[in-house]
Amino acid sequence: MRLSLAERASLVGPFDYIVLKTIYEDRDKSEYIHYLTLKKKLGQKNVKDLKISLLKLNKLKLVFKDSTSLAFKLTFSGLDILAIKMLYVNHILNKLGSIIGEGKESIVYLGYDFNDNPIVVKFHRIGRNSYKSIRRREPYKKSWITISVENAEREYKALKCVHDNGGKVPRPLGIAYNAVAMEYIDGIELYRVSNNAFDFTKLYNEILGTMRIAYTECKIAHGDLSPYNILIDKENNLFIIDWPQASQSEESLQHDIRNIINFFRRFGISDDPQKIFDYVRGIS
Ligand SMILES: Nc1ncnc2c1ncn2[C@@H]1O[C@H](COP(=O)(O)OP(=O)(O)OP(=O)(O)O)[C@@H](O)[C@H]1O
Ligand SMILES: [Mg+2]
Repeated sequence: MRLSLAERASLVGPFDYIVLKTIYEDRDKSEYIHYLTLKKKLGQKNVKDLKISLLKLNKLKLVFKDSTSLAFKLTFSGLDILAIKMLYVNHILNKLGSIIGEGKESIVYLGYDFNDNPIVVKFHRIGRNSYKSIRRREPYKKSWITISVENAEREYKALKCVHDNGGKVPRPLGIAYNAVAMEYIDGIELYRVSNNAFDFTKLYNEILGTMRIAYTECKIAHGDLSPYNILIDKENNLFIIDWPQASQSEESLQHDIRNIINFFRRFGISDDPQKIFDYVRGIS
């Protein structure tokens, strides 16, 4: 039987957590950490506990044992568990719920805070394919773990800055390792909105307003803006989600503008891309 992430988190004790964290801290030295290195780092008196813990973590698929040597590496789930524990200790996440979204580079879960309110936890998981393309761009050595954690940090920073400046994004609640916790939006993606009475002009202007805040106040363009990354709640409020690729690139900004203009054309809204480009950069 395959255990859920929440079930596995509940089986990880304090010493298992220390073992996971020690493996995590070694991530950029080499892909696998040898048992003897772990033993040295954790101390002779913990040898028995270490053996038991590694067996358990391997069984739970939180670490992966090398096929030819007594060496271990963290799995994506192992990294997720570190994040869950830290969000719990920081009083952000009390309970993890079910999966509500699965993207190319992340898994999005519903969770509950300590007042039983729903929240969202997005675990960044940069897989082998994207990892390879990043490697090509960044020749120095960096593990997929570090790249996933950096993506989470970029997304959290973007959400925080845009939110603090009045832009329309889910309220960020915290970050831990590869996980970003944020406000849960009870709504649907913009591409699924089919209500004829919907005020698309108002929505269009609000999207541009948030793009302008992001670029002028936070120095970022979203970089993957589309009706798939805009949520609309029951009161027709909008929230722009999915910010890990945010950067200052003007090219990304132009790409986002093209996507938005193309989408809104079907609702009779037309605009000059250059005019919008100036507007979101705060020039006009
Ligand atoms: N704050 C939120 N509230 C409610 N649902 C959310 C929230 N954040 C994300 N989701 C859901 O999870 C899905 C995936 O989230 P997001 O777009 O951030 O991840 P992603 O991995 O980049 O996905 P993709 O690769 O499909 O773009 C969203 O389409 C949405 O349905
Ligand atoms: Mg998305």
